[in-house]
Amino acid sequence: MTLNWPISILALFGLILILLRRLQSFYQNFIVRVTTAHDASILLQHSDLSSRAKPNRRLVDAFGIRNAFTTIDECFHRDSVSEIKSQLRMSGENDWIKVSSQAKSLVTSLKSPAEKIEDLGPLEELVQNFVFRVTLSHFFKGTPEISDDFVNYLASSINSLWNASKTCASVSQEEVLKKSRNELLKCLSHIFGLCPPLDHLGDERNPLNKLLPAYETMWRVVLRCFIEVKFKSTDKTIHVALLKFFEKPTQEQFEAATPQGVSAKAIVLETLRLYPPTRRIHRFTEPIGVSSFLLHALWLVTRLVNFNAGVPNKKAHHAIDVEYLHRDPVTWGEDSLEFNPSRIKHMKKPAFMPFGKGPYICPAGNTFAPMMIGICVGALLDGFQDVGPKVWRLVDEKKLEVDFSARPAPLGNGREGLPIWSLAQMNV
Ligand code: HEM
Repeated sequence: MTLNWPISILALFGLILILLRRLQSFYQNFIVRVTTAHDASILLQHSDLSSRAKPNRRLVDAFGIRNAFTTIDECFHRDSVSEIKSQLRMSGENDWIKVSSQAKSLVTSLKSPAEKIEDLGPLEELVQNFVFRVTLSHFFKGTPEISDDFVNYLASSINSLWNASKTCASVSQEEVLKKSRNELLKCLSHIFGLCPPLDHLGDERNPLNKLLPAYETMWRVVLRCFIEVKFKSTDKTIHVALLKFFEKPTQEQFEAATPQGVSAKAIVLETLRLYPPTRRIHRFTEPIGVSSFLLHALWLVTRLVNFNAGVPNKKAHHAIDVEYLHRDPVTWGEDSLEFNPSRIKHMKKPAFMPFGKGPYICPAGNTFAPMMIGICVGALLDGFQDVGPKVWRLVDEKKLEVDFSARPAPLGNGREGLPIWSLAQMNV
């Protein structure tokens, strides 16, 4: 059977059109992974607010926030960053001493209601609860007493909304996301006494504007640093360095090196290297790097087929893979997956960017966040010290001790990265 040739041509034309449309949607949804420090620096140095706000749009939908990460308004950005900077400024040693004694009493209060050791619950929840309270008391002075249940609800709600915002594929999933977001906003409005209640379209009063960048990043680092120092490392001097800093929380002590050459600062920075909580930094810009040629060609094609929608946007979604850069053996050596604070002396800086780079670098990165993390880990090490024959161990759900010698380094660093582990006190 032979086909009529005009029909064949039409069919071929239709096929090409479908293919080109597919390419167009591929281009629009494609994420360029950036894995060199050079390309990452160029992207970050030349960022503008809209290049960041676009990929962060999902955070507005998921949490109703309006902050430096989501705005394209220069004035609003400047004001909100300077407000945060003023809250990050510590007036001197006394401020840090206050933070450390408050952290000490918080750890004591988290431990005290437990009649039996099993009541401490999963370590992850304990650390979330602790860091949340430390963050809250620093950024929201005068907030009324908040129950453990609420803190646990908030932590799990943030986590599930975050995951849902990334994977939301269907209309029904979107509805679930909206419902849990609205519940969270209602709850926050009630706790923080906000009237009228928070607007889900993005609200300057939303406490998550500060809690998301502060608490969500810090608890992950505190948890992993605590596990590395207390349970994984065989080098007891790093334990001592953090405890000394906790007892004397000054900048000088933070940087004071042990005879082995390791300081509390080096321990925190090494944790940030191995476990960067911001695993990827997203930007929506013109393509750069090796993928640029291919993307430009794709863009030209999509431009050709975009008959009715005008000229398509040439910009592409880039994800700077900070975790990859921080673990690349070419930069950090063969032992790049191991926790080794002494490497910080030889740190190759261009690939180290836990706090980003360029105009939107984290305002807490220089001093506040590293010192706060050091104090929080120090408070946990202090609160869970081994006394006499009683020692603290990390156990799994079956109450068996976690054997790190049988586990490949490093610990999981994703949102669902760690198994359910708890602290248990044992007699040796
Ligand atoms: C472990 C702790 C922290 C880490 C790893 C971290 C990481 C980062 C990163 C990677 C960026 C750059 C984002 C981008 O370029 O798109 C950033 C920006 C920012 N961070 Fe942090 N951060 C931490 C703690 C904090 C704390 C405690 C605060 C205080 C509220 C904070 C507030 C901010 C703000 C406001 C910005 C935006 C700055 C701007 O737009 O100019 N961060 N952070």
